[in-house]
Amino acid sequence: MGVPSGPLLAYNAVESANRLKKPPMTVRQLPEQIVNRIAAGEVVERPASVVKELVENAIDAGASRIDIFTDGGGRRRIGITDDGGGMTRGDLALAVDRHATSKLDDEDLLRIRTLGFRGEALPSIGAVAKLAITTRHVSEPHAWSLAVEAGEKSGIMPAALSQGTRVEVNDLFYATPARLKFLKTDRTEAEAIREVVKSSAVSRWRGPTLRSRWPAKSARRSPGPRRCRAPPGG
Ligand SMILES: Nc1ncnc2c1ncn2[C@@H]1O[C@H](COP(=O)(O)OP(=O)(O)O)[C@@H](O)[C@H]1O
Ligand SMILES: [Mg+2]
Repeated sequence: MGVPSGPLLAYNAVESANRLKKPPMTVRQLPEQIVNRIAAGEVVERPASVVKELVENAIDAGASRIDIFTDGGGRRRIGITDDGGGMTRGDLALAVDRHATSKLDDEDLLRIRTLGFRGEALPSIGAVAKLAITTRHVSEPHAWSLAVEAGEKSGIMPAALSQGTRVEVNDLFYATPARLKFLKTDRTEAEAIREVVKSSAVSRWRGPTLRSRWPAKSARRSPGPRRCRAPPGG
């Protein structure tokens, strides 16, 4: 049987005409939480994208060392700790809002010297996962922490951290279960994370030391801590 191209097209046209006869839905502004979840789909495709964004933030913060921990291929848990400049209480409060960034001071899009500048990563991660940030800026007497769960911000609490920033992401995509179906096995997701860590280290050979750890069950070979410092000239 051949492909019924002509008649099928005509049939579809009738169907859509029928659909148009239904009472039209009114145009409405989507709630902010939904807008953020939709936007998050662009930034957070899989656990490796979370690791990439967080490592880039740590590099932008001037870290000399970045520790990366993942469990369940990053779906269960991603933890990234850096020894960079950290954030003040005020910056932390804003950092998880959409389009909030410290990296575009004069709005000149042609002179960008950081890996990020769109202010999308943290709000996107917070929209689809359980996000917790603890950070200490040199001007603050102690660290501060903030959590975001499925787009809901907690209050800011005093916390303990001597320097830099620790970001924890638990239960990625728990707020958008449909996206979980698109994830591969834990092993494949962990492999994608390794690639991101490797290429971050290679592209920033004078940059920070990156240490990554995977729990034994999701590691393919040696589960022990690894050091990835890119080779000179890499
Ligand atoms: N690890 C970190 N150390 C210090 N500041 C950070 C860190 N991660 C995020 N920030 C702050 O939060 C802001 C928002 O981060 P993000 O959502 O990734 O957007 P962007 O990196 O595009 O600015 C950053 O501009 C930065 O000021
Ligand atoms: Mg960023």
